[in-house]
Amino acid sequence: MASERESIHGQWSSRLAFILAATGSAVGLGNIWKFPYIAGENGGGAFVLIYLVCIAVIGIPIMMAEVLLGRRGRQSPINTMRTLAAEEHANRHWKWLGWAGMLAGFLILSYYSVIAGWALAYVFRTGSGLFTGLTADGVQTIFTNMVNDPERLLAWHTIFMVMTMTVVARGVSGGLEKAVKLLMPALFVLLFVLVGYAWNSGGFYQGVSFLFQPDFSKITANGILIAMGHAFFTLSLGMGAIMVYGSYLPGTASIAKTCIAVSLMDTLVALLAGLAIFPIVFANGLEPGVGPGLIFQTLPIAFGHMDYGAFFGMLFFVLLVFAAWSSSISLIEPAVAWLVENRGMTRIFASVVAGLTTWLFGLLTVLSFNLWSELKLLSGIGIFRDSTIFDLLDYLTANIMLPLGGLLIAVFAAWKMSRAATVDELAMGDGFFYKLWRFLVRYITPVAVIIVFLKAVSVI
Ligand code: PFF
Repeated sequence: MASERESIHGQWSSRLAFILAATGSAVGLGNIWKFPYIAGENGGGAFVLIYLVCIAVIGIPIMMAEVLLGRRGRQSPINTMRTLAAEEHANRHWKWLGWAGMLAGFLILSYYSVIAGWALAYVFRTGSGLFTGLTADGVQTIFTNMVNDPERLLAWHTIFMVMTMTVVARGVSGGLEKAVKLLMPALFVLLFVLVGYAWNSGGFYQGVSFLFQPDFSKITANGILIAMGHAFFTLSLGMGAIMVYGSYLPGTASIAKTCIAVSLMDTLVALLAGLAIFPIVFANGLEPGVGPGLIFQTLPIAFGHMDYGAFFGMLFFVLLVFAAWSSSISLIEPAVAWLVENRGMTRIFASVVAGLTTWLFGLLTVLSFNLWSELKLLSGIGIFRDSTIFDLLDYLTANIMLPLGGLLIAVFAAWKMSRAATVDELAMGDGFFYKLWRFLVRYITPVAVIIVFLKAVSVI
C-alpha cells in the first residue's frame, strides 16, 4: 500500500506516462552531447565501464529511493523532505536536502539551456545544407564562429528558456506527455541510422574499441569521479527531479520495474550516441578529447556527406532539442512546485520568476565561451587550471552536488525511514530484491560515493 496523500499538482495518467516523463528527463544532452565528450576526454573504455557499473549499483537503487520518497511525500522535494522527516522522527534539517537540489537544478539549467541553444542553432545550419561536402576543418570553423559570438549564444539561450518555461507553466501532463511518447522512439530510430552511417565510415572498429576496450592506465581518480557524477547527471538523480516526478506517480505502479526500464533506455541512448560519434572521429582523424564541441564538430561531417544529409541532420537536431527540452522541464519543476506550494504563486507566475532567474545566470555560461574564455577563477588549483566558469559550474553540479544529494537521499531512505515504510511504498514484498535494494542503498552507495570523493579530493 502506498501512502494516501495526494499531490496538489495532479498526477500522471498512468505508469507509462511516468516512464515516458522520467525517460524524457533522463535522456537529454547528457546522453548525446556530454557522454561522448567526457568519454573522449577520459580515455574511453575504462571510463565507460566505470560509468556502467555506477548506473547499475548506484544509479538504479538511488532512483528507486528518490521515486519512493517523492511518492510518499507527494509535494515539492523541499516539502516532501520536511513532511517525511517529521513523520519518521528524523531531524528537521533534512529539508535542506530539498533546497540543495533546487539550487543544483537551477544551476544546471543555466548552462544546459545555453548548450540546448547550440542544438537549436544547428537545426537551421544542418537543414539549410550548410555542411554539404564540408571537411572536418570547415565544420570546425562554423562551430568556433558560433561560440565566439556572445550575442548569438544569448539569442538561442533565450529562445530555449522561453520554450522551457512555456511548457512548465502549463503543468506536468498534457502536451509534454504526448510529445515525449512520439519523439523518444523517433530519436532511437535516428540514432540507429547514424550508427549505420558510422558503420561504413571506415572508423567503426576503432570507435568500438575506443568505447569498449578498457585501458585502466588511462583513468584517473578524477576520471572516476566524473564517471560517477555522470551516472547521476544522466539519470537526473540527486536533485529532486525524479523525486518530484515520483510525487505525481499513481500509487499502484511498481517502482523497481519502472526505474530499471528508465535506466536501460537512458544507457542505450548514450551508447548508441557513442557508437555513432567515435567512428566518425577516427575516420576523419579528429581528436576524441576536444571537449564540449565534440558532437557539433563530428556529426555535421556525417550529415554533410550522406544522402539526404540536410534532412537527416535537421531531424537529428530537432530530436536533440526535444530531448533537451523534456529534461530542462524537470530541472526547474522542483523550484516551480515549491513556489506554488509555499509562496502561493500561480504556476504561470512561478514559471516566469524561476525562468528569469535561470536565464540571467545563464549569461555566465554564454560569456565563458567567448569574452570570458580566458577567465580561469581557480587557476591555482591543479585540475581546475584551465577551467572556465562553465567548466566549474558543470563540475560543481554534476560531480559534487548531485552525488552528494544522492548520498543523502540514500541515507535518508535506508537509515532514517522505517523498514516498514519502504517495504510498503516499494510494494515488491520483503524478499530477495527488496533486501538487495536495501543493502545497496544502506552500504554500497554511501561508501562508494564517499570513497570516490576522498580519492578525487586527494588529487586536487
Ligand atoms: N538527465 C539529463 C540529461 O542527461 O541530459 C540532465 C538532467 C535533467 C540532470 C534533470 C539532472 C536533472 F535533474
